[in-house]
Amino acid sequence: MGSQRKSIHGQWSGRLAFILAATGSAVGLGNIWKFPYITGENGGGAFVMTYLLCIAVIGLPIMMAEVLIGRRGRQSPINTMRELAADAGASRYWVLLGWAGVVAGFLILSYYSVIAGWALAYVFRAAAGLFTGLTADGVQSIFHDLIGEPERLMAWHTLFMVMTMIIVARGVRSGLEKAVRFLMPALLVLMLVLMGYAWNSGYFEQGVEFLFRPDFSKITPNAVLTAMGHAFFTLSLGMGAIMVYGSYLPDRISIARASVAISIADTAVALLAGMVIFPIVFANSLDPGAGPGLIFQTLPIAFGHMPYGAFFGMLFFILLVFAAWTSAISLIEPAVAWLVENRGHSRVNASVVAGISTWLFGLLTVFSFNIWSDFKPLAVGKFADMTLFDLLDYLTANIMLPLGGLLIAIFAVWKMSRASTVDELNMGDRFFYPLWRFLVRYITPIAVIIVFLNAIGVIDMKG
Ligand code: PFF
Repeated sequence: MGSQRKSIHGQWSGRLAFILAATGSAVGLGNIWKFPYITGENGGGAFVMTYLLCIAVIGLPIMMAEVLIGRRGRQSPINTMRELAADAGASRYWVLLGWAGVVAGFLILSYYSVIAGWALAYVFRAAAGLFTGLTADGVQSIFHDLIGEPERLMAWHTLFMVMTMIIVARGVRSGLEKAVRFLMPALLVLMLVLMGYAWNSGYFEQGVEFLFRPDFSKITPNAVLTAMGHAFFTLSLGMGAIMVYGSYLPDRISIARASVAISIADTAVALLAGMVIFPIVFANSLDPGAGPGLIFQTLPIAFGHMPYGAFFGMLFFILLVFAAWTSAISLIEPAVAWLVENRGHSRVNASVVAGISTWLFGLLTVFSFNIWSDFKPLAVGKFADMTLFDLLDYLTANIMLPLGGLLIAIFAVWKMSRASTVDELNMGDRFFYPLWRFLVRYITPIAVIIVFLNAIGVIDMKG
């Protein structure tokens, strides 16, 4: 079994390590920061249902495809795509899919690191007791002071990028694996503690209703695209992060089981985050559609009023940083692996080169919250209101990841030989393998294409 290739970067110690690492990649700002705010912006329940459907029908099957490609190739996404395309007798242009992944990771990390910087800043603000007793207004002004100053944002962004580079430089086993073994369980415990607080806010029901009661009249083609894009983003799919993690997966481990576990864990954390945040939003008459600042303007109010709030607040933002950290590592790993394989860099050099370039590009996001907040480069249609940060987020999450995922699916089932995917997935030839193959061959690509066409207005499913 297996392709007989070996990774020069080493392997996970086993199944649990892979699941923790991939869950670490999946669970991040996407779950705790982005999911609540895009749910708020898109009206709640119906959006959440669409997102859950996308996870099950599109996300999970594509995750399996991406892991299997990674394990088959056992290299950075670029070299994996080159070799597997050659194995399959497919066009050598498939290598571009690997390149697109590295570029997408670079673009995402450039803004991801800035937002993670907000979380870092909040660790210290919470610890210092700045939120104690504050009203919604007070918390909002702390937030606006932070994002309004480019130097401050730049400092936190720098610190986060350095943290990311340090872990990546240490390698697969002693960097990534060590970190996730401790951080992931800790995150879950804290989420549960906070949920206890939200439960007692008196608005728990209203929050849950907002999350789960679908009102499909609120759903627009754009909201469906956002939900699908987010399914890719939250599961880290479509850019090679999960592929490169798959390349470190030992041969005997079941890809299907691990992928199911990762998807469930990721979804649970997002829903839990929603159940913590929306009751607090309603209890304080805040606007669920507040946008990217949502959790930075809601959670501190809760911490400010709970016993030991400074301590729990600090802990929460530390864990948010950790969640972001384990994702950031996976965003940069494809580039680092490629630099090591093709440019002969040591891991340390590769991490520094990739990290500094990402840091530089991240300045665009830093400035788009202050000195360039009025700079909206695309003056057309729905882009007219978007800052550089908004555009980067839209381009990567709503376009590059779904497109990358679509091509990964097509490659796995239309280009690779059936025998090699049967061998890699090892699910027996009876029921599950044909089901997966059917989904990835027909359902997933058609769904992705329909959502795209609908969002750009070529077709109109409602009208
Ligand atoms: N899945 C991460 C999150 O939800 O925060 C973000 C992410 C990581 C996206 C890695 C894409 C990726 F390749």
